[in-house]
Amino acid sequence: MENAVKKIAILTSGGDCPGMNPCIRAAVRTAVARGLEIYGVYDGLQGLIDDRFEKLKGTFASGLSSLGGTVLGTARSAEFMTPEGRAKAAENVRRRGVEALVIMGGDGSFRGGSALCQEQGIHFAGLPCTIDNDMYGTDYTIGFNTALDTIVEAVDKVRDTARSHHRLFFVETMGRYSGALAVSAAVATGADAVLIPETKTDLPALAEKIKKSFARAHKSFIVIVAEGDEAGNAITIEKKVRELSGVEGRVCVLGHVQRGGSPCAFDRILASVLGLRAVEALCEGKKNIFLGVQDEKVTITPIEEIIGKKKPFRKNFLEVADVLCT
Ligand code: F6P
Repeated sequence: MENAVKKIAILTSGGDCPGMNPCIRAAVRTAVARGLEIYGVYDGLQGLIDDRFEKLKGTFASGLSSLGGTVLGTARSAEFMTPEGRAKAAENVRRRGVEALVIMGGDGSFRGGSALCQEQGIHFAGLPCTIDNDMYGTDYTIGFNTALDTIVEAVDKVRDTARSHHRLFFVETMGRYSGALAVSAAVATGADAVLIPETKTDLPALAEKIKKSFARAHKSFIVIVAEGDEAGNAITIEKKVRELSGVEGRVCVLGHVQRGGSPCAFDRILASVLGLRAVEALCEGKKNIFLGVQDEKVTITPIEEIIGKKKPFRKNFLEVADVLCT
């Protein structure tokens, strides 16, 4: 069957994540195998405006499976959020005869892509790339499992020193609006408490629990705090808990370490499958779609069904954490 598109462009947008590179690799290889012309756009949606396109050969994909970050670079573009910015971007896309984009990013990037389509008629396939695992329409986002492994390794190390010194630690994970990383890490590491944006945080109760725990000669106590918790960040929460409990804690903010590193096998496979399917779907003539994985199957959803929707938190998993981390 003839391809519905002949020229496509790919870009990575928003916060980077481990897995973007194998996703680029899969898209390039599939495009070459299908006989498409493929462009890479540097630095995300901003690169569309600044005309930073490069025609890619199959060799561009070499060595990308295990590489962290994104070789195409990424950005959060304020200019793209304006109709004027999008008009400039569309001009650059059209001048090259590019018919569709593959956007690897998060909700903000897809909002931008959707506006570009409505105003300028340029369509795209969106792939879920964020460590936060907070995207509607997919069980997993690319990058989440690698970031989780990084957190688990770090918390295990913190536990060693916490045990030796009989200390209280607050370990802060990323997740401005999502506790997915924090809860999963808490279950995996056997943390003693976890604080996330999705649930109410009761600091006096936590302080009481810590006091009792150390009174029973508990050897260590680890609280995992998602950065977006309503009670504050790890630094402010440590201070409040110290005032309430009299127990001094130490704080470990993991920060951007969580976004780097070689993607784990799960993320490499997810990125490869979704990158391939995105290009195939464009060849089949699908427009403005989001690709995810649900119940172990690749799913393709109209982008308007995804944008702005909140992924329901895995309640049953939260219950596991409630029992095990108390
Ligand atoms: O990519 C999403 C995310 O990792 C959030 O969890 C975090 O709050 C944010 O990015 C940090 O972004 P920046 O790199 O702009 O500081």
